[in-house]
Amino acid sequence: MGGAASVVTAATCGAVLSVYPWMMEDIRDGRRSGGDALPGKERRVRLRDVELGDADAYVRMRCDPVVMAELGGPLPREGIEDKVARDVRAAAAGTEWIKMIVPDEAAPAVVAGNVVLWSHDEGGEPVSEIGWMVLPELQGRGLGKRAVRMLLELARDDGRWGLVHAFPATTNGPSNGICRSLGFRFAGERDVTFAGRVLRSNHWVINPAVDLA
Ligand SMILES: CC(C)(COP(=O)(O)OP(=O)(O)OC[C@H]1O[C@@H](n2cnc3c(N)ncnc32)[C@H](O)[C@@H]1OP(=O)(O)O)[C@@H](O)C(=O)NCCC(=O)NCCS
Repeated sequence: MGGAASVVTAATCGAVLSVYPWMMEDIRDGRRSGGDALPGKERRVRLRDVELGDADAYVRMRCDPVVMAELGGPLPREGIEDKVARDVRAAAAGTEWIKMIVPDEAAPAVVAGNVVLWSHDEGGEPVSEIGWMVLPELQGRGLGKRAVRMLLELARDDGRWGLVHAFPATTNGPSNGICRSLGFRFAGERDVTFAGRVLRSNHWVINPAVDLA
């Protein structure tokens, strides 16, 4: 996802997080939206901070033409480790929330993508922005929506992020679907710069304390 004016995707996390009950959610057959293709009776999704070992997942997300189709195309492989290291530091400092999505806590080595919340300056005012990515082989199973909801619940409980903004490309069906179905309000279109590319984007806003559906 891009950020409002010039966007830097934060994407990622730091040390292994403790697993708090409110950071996990059950996924039971037939209970989720967005499809439910994960086999098994019950899976518990977990969000954890990014780690240096997540470089491979970063490559599979940020350098993949499918994942990056609505974000201006794949990014170069070069520099991924530096990006992960920056994200690990930001997550450890607490300035950004950079969470990897673990679709089944019983298989913690499997990562499905990430969901990120960060703040940037826009006209002298802090703006909180959320972004997300799910690996192609795990898309369409409700994981993206579930992870975004979980992070917004954390933001609601934390209280410091205020209104949370999202800027999916106008043509990004699944991302706009996530915004629409979680209670974001549509605030218009705008051009957003992501990794040096200008994307025509929808502007969505949510107050996690009030609007979260
Ligand atoms: C956007 C993304 C994270 C969605 O993850 P996902 O796990 O596949 O999404 P989900 O299965 O949770 O589905 C999300 C919602 O979008 C809907 N959706 C899925 N595909 C859709 C489409 N083509 N058009 C409209 N809605 C769609 C789903 O039905 C679901 O809504 P619902 O629960 O109300 O039915 C994933 O597609 C992705 O990583 N895309 C590439 C990266 C990207 O574009 N990131 C966002 C940048 S803003």
